[in-house]
Amino acid sequence: MTAQDFIPKTYKSTIKNGKVTWESPSNIALVKYWGKKENQIPANPSISFTLNHCKTITELSYTKRETSNSFSFEVFLEGKKKDDFKPKIEIFFERVIVYMPFLKDFHFKIETSNTFPHSSGIASSASGMSALALCLMSIEKQLKPEMTDEYFNQKASFLARLGSGSACRSIEGDLIVWGESHAISGSSNLFGTKYPYQVHENFKEYQDTILLVDKGQKQVSSTVGHNLMHEHPYAENRFQQAHDNLEKLKPILESGDLNKFIALIESEALTLHAMMLTSMPYFILMKPNTLEIINKIWQFREDTGLHVGFTLDAGANVHVLYPKKEAKVILDFIKNELVAYCQNEQYICDQIGFGAKIINN
Ligand code: DP6
Repeated sequence: MTAQDFIPKTYKSTIKNGKVTWESPSNIALVKYWGKKENQIPANPSISFTLNHCKTITELSYTKRETSNSFSFEVFLEGKKKDDFKPKIEIFFERVIVYMPFLKDFHFKIETSNTFPHSSGIASSASGMSALALCLMSIEKQLKPEMTDEYFNQKASFLARLGSGSACRSIEGDLIVWGESHAISGSSNLFGTKYPYQVHENFKEYQDTILLVDKGQKQVSSTVGHNLMHEHPYAENRFQQAHDNLEKLKPILESGDLNKFIALIESEALTLHAMMLTSMPYFILMKPNTLEIINKIWQFREDTGLHVGFTLDAGANVHVLYPKKEAKVILDFIKNELVAYCQNEQYICDQIGFGAKIINN
């Protein structure tokens, strides 16, 4: 597939007004995307667990309009008008109009809500942009009813990527690869693809408890952080490391070796933050409590031999990852020893999920 393949020829059907709702999950990267080229092409491949409970629900109402030389839309978050979301969506529309030529023919009302706090470091851009891309695909599906499910998902992921890179990994589950890797057959820079190899039972229903260390707005956005990789002294080594780690993950996922899994994902998380520490200008997104939690996890693992590990996104929150079969003891540990380090003791219990769902059509 090339980007050209997503440019539609003429549509056979026409539509006037309607409404569509999708819920789309967040995802947590195991091998991280950090650094990109033009047109939202990732500098290295990444792989993520799709989440199950952390999601965005987006209802898109569309009304045919007469004049059509600009985009016409309004955005609501939890029922409140959100004009500050509009520039990001305007940029998204600009990037995708060539693939969705009907965009200027409608007025859109975008009503969205999250099951988690916005800007908490949980990737709301991933669930939000993927939900919006899926709603737009549902409109295109009406214009082109012969579209296959495979094309629908691929193009939804392709569009979501143009909104926010990691969003392309939120359409399906449970393990999604994005970015070309010679180790992963079918992998693409243009959209996310399902991890195509055998995955051990140990990773089924894998748990992710998200500790909300700091729910405030991030000081440096991911987009700015990605751009700082352009002049970064360690960029090339980091990109190569991500390729190598994805390759190393294959036998780990197949054999179910949890110790090696934990070593790989923790190293990825700390390397991501090391890239931030060594950018110019440099920045720190971890908070003191992020480090307290990491040290507690390491101590608990040493004391008990249980398979609890962590990963971090571009923020202070900690994703505590562990297998379902050890969930009871580890969740007790989280509640007794880690939750105290969270802002207002807030945390979210999630687990690996299977992708977005349409709510109505
Ligand atoms: C640290 O996808 O939020 O979560 O493409 O600029 O919207 P943009 O960036 P974004 O970056 C996510 C980075 C990350 C790692 C990852 O999810 O792979």
